[in-house]
Amino acid sequence: MNKLNFATPMKTLLMSVAIGLSSIPLQLSAAETADEGKSDVEPMALRLIMQDLELNMQRIASAIIREDLVAVADLAPLVADHEQPPMTEKMRILSFMGTDAGAFKSLDGVTHDTAMMLKKVAEKNEGDAVIKTYADLLQSCVACHQKFKQPFVDHFYR
Ligand code: HEC
Repeated sequence: MNKLNFATPMKTLLMSVAIGLSSIPLQLSAAETADEGKSDVEPMALRLIMQDLELNMQRIASAIIREDLVAVADLAPLVADHEQPPMTEKMRILSFMGTDAGAFKSLDGVTHDTAMMLKKVAEKNEGDAVIKTYADLLQSCVACHQKFKQPFVDHFYR
């Protein structure tokens, strides 16, 4: 009884030291795991393509501001005919989309057609139409994002 009473606090002490020590690396690795789902994970090709689209939209906006419609006409096809993810990623994306795959593709088609329209009006030097078509193009990006962006990120990145 005496021994036990003495031993119990010792055990508790030893155990808490052991737990205390081992819980440090445990907590660290838990934090690393949580991080992985966000910043450390390898971005998919689609994300890089999107960042490219963003950059080209910014370039087009600058060209409009500078009234350089020749540059607008040169840049618009880069948005229209953006790169495609590799086939394996495309399959993953389309299988995730399921029955929405058609809607996803057709929204991409709207972006393509609107960017080609932008090229056309820029070539004709129609300043007002360029601004209006640029707005339509931006709207086409947002239309797809509103439907697909968040579910996509939730599915592939978390
Ligand atoms: C057919 C659907 C679709 C269209 C059209 C579309 N996007 Fe996206 N976009 C997505 C999806 C899905 C994501 C989420 C991808 C991800 O986070 O990996 C995304 C994400 C993005 C991001 C965030 C990337 C990041 O680093 O987190 C940017 C910027 C972007 N798109 C720009 C554009 C621009 C500019 C256009 C129009 C010229 C456009 N997108 C048109 C589907 C689309």
